[in-house]
Amino acid sequence: MKLANQVTLITGAASGIGKAQALLFAREGAHIIASDIQSQALEETVLEIKSAGGEVIGIPADIRKEEDVKNLYVQSLKEYGKINILCNTAGVFDNLIPITETDLSLLRSILSVNIEGTFLVTKYVLQSMLAQKHGIIVNMASDAGLIGGGGGTAYTMSKHAIIGFTKQINAELGHQGIRANAIAPGLIQTPMIQAFISNEDSPIVKAFQKIPAQRFGHTDDIAMASIFLASDDSRYLYGQVLSVDGGLLSTLRF
Ligand SMILES: NC(=O)c1ccc[n+]([C@@H]2O[C@H](COP(=O)([O-])OP(=O)(O)OC[C@H]3O[C@@H](n4cnc5c(N)ncnc54)[C@H](O)[C@@H]3O)[C@@H](O)[C@H]2O)c1
Repeated sequence: MKLANQVTLITGAASGIGKAQALLFAREGAHIIASDIQSQALEETVLEIKSAGGEVIGIPADIRKEEDVKNLYVQSLKEYGKINILCNTAGVFDNLIPITETDLSLLRSILSVNIEGTFLVTKYVLQSMLAQKHGIIVNMASDAGLIGGGGGTAYTMSKHAIIGFTKQINAELGHQGIRANAIAPGLIQTPMIQAFISNEDSPIVKAFQKIPAQRFGHTDDIAMASIFLASDDSRYLYGQVLSVDGGLLSTLRF
């Protein structure tokens, strides 16, 4: 087991990539604190992990709200006394809306989850990590954080910010035992992009047809890469962005 007894807080654990991380991390021996704004679906994640013999608690939280995040942190410490690994996975998509159709309220609704929420959770969890002089952070960026056109304006801005945030954590706190890396998923089959996958004319389907791997990503593809970044296997990796995208960004095919 790569993560035996590692207390791991995962946001966005009710669905898609976060749920897959929770299930796979538990299988690797991690003690999971699963969190999400959707409390009912979160309970299903918790039940699935328990029925597979894993160790888990579920704590609902809206990461946009500081009181929720504080409660998540306090309850986590009450239960386990420490947090070794943080997976910042909760996020929202902007449905590829371009700048000409993006108003401030849409921009804020995306940034408040993807940037402010990630910032808040990290800030709280770092208290415990810094006290123990050890902590690993896996941030969920996107290929849209590395190029233009991978999302709409708000989403693309937010995911570029996540990559900057990841590097900044290492610059400020790497020497205090904190190690942060990011994953940039490509096109992963989750509820987030389901509507686009179902529409043959969508730019996402067109991009997919050119992927070397010739398939959409599975949530497990991202969860397995997360285990690598959360485990000692990646102990010399700091501030890196791992594209897990079936080759989407590595090729230019006309
Ligand atoms: N699916 C993809 O193709 C893809 C590609 C690149 C990056 N990502 C990123 O991966 C992460 C997970 O996305 P997914 O595809 O699994 O989507 P998803 O919609 O299946 O899961 C996202 C989860 O985040 C939760 N969430 C949303 N707002 C929240 C809030 N305010 N507080 C707490 N939880 C909240 C949702 O309830 C949901 O369970 C996101 O950060 C997303 O941007 C996904």
